[in-house]
Amino acid sequence: MGKIIAIANQKGGVGKTTTAINLAAGLALEGKKVLLVDADPQGNATSGAGIEKLPSRRSLYDAMISGDSVRELVVPTVIEKLWVLPSHKNLAGIEIEFADDKNRANILKGLLESIREYFHYIIIDCPPSLGILTVNGLTAADSLLVPIQTEYFALEGVTELFETLSRLKRELNPGLKIEGLLLTMFDERTNLSTAVAKDLRDFYGPQVLRTVIPRNVRLAEAPSFGKPILLYDPKSRGAESYFQLTKEIIEHG
Ligand SMILES: Nc1ncnc2c1ncn2[C@@H]1O[C@H](COP(=O)(O)OP(=O)(O)OP(=O)(O)O)[C@@H](O)[C@H]1O
Ligand SMILES: [Mg+2]
Repeated sequence: MGKIIAIANQKGGVGKTTTAINLAAGLALEGKKVLLVDADPQGNATSGAGIEKLPSRRSLYDAMISGDSVRELVVPTVIEKLWVLPSHKNLAGIEIEFADDKNRANILKGLLESIREYFHYIIIDCPPSLGILTVNGLTAADSLLVPIQTEYFALEGVTELFETLSRLKRELNPGLKIEGLLLTMFDERTNLSTAVAKDLRDFYGPQVLRTVIPRNVRLAEAPSFGKPILLYDPKSRGAESYFQLTKEIIEHG
């Protein structure tokens, strides 16, 4: 039975998608069968994993709206054991289409149930909001991984996320665990990065993962080539850090 990890933080641009793509790729290169679910209408995980965003391509949207079988929608990638359940910009309409549906938080969970036995890991890239798509991701997941950009307002965003989380656990997914808080875009030359990292570790203790992702321009370049960093520049510091993250996540079991 695959482990489902949602990657979420309502704050934009903190490294959710970069982490989703590269953790998924890292796990696949370690021999695990992995499904990367792109639950963000922006579709950055889809294109970053090398899947062209064709207007005609069926996507997570079709599964959520029409109940299309996820098994028929997943697409292979250049990495043998990595598949993607692609996004489409019409996913943005889900919020409205399911506004009156009482069961709206459980749709993704239902869709993934039929395929989770085929994968070791299912990684869900959530959009930067606490709307229905993120709630679906968190309801479907066994655990939550929170990328946090090491900058001044980092702590505030996390407090808000954790408030939502305790409500969600009460009402929708009592078993949801914290996989970890991941410091991203760490810049060792600045005192600010170091100070924020220390604050987070003081406050959240061992929930903060050992692995720290540095700011690394190769990580920012890779998506435009449709490649995970581990293929684009495996010797870069970015690749090294995501490989370390992969090992830490595997250790968690
Ligand atoms: N460690 C890093 N070093 C340098 N650039 C990075 C790093 N991580 C991410 N980036 C870049 O920062 C931008 C935001 O990253 P990313 O898309 O992963 O964040 P996100 O949280 O998914 O954003 P959104 O909230 O819009 O979905 C991207 O251009 C990405 O390439
Ligand atoms: Mg993203």
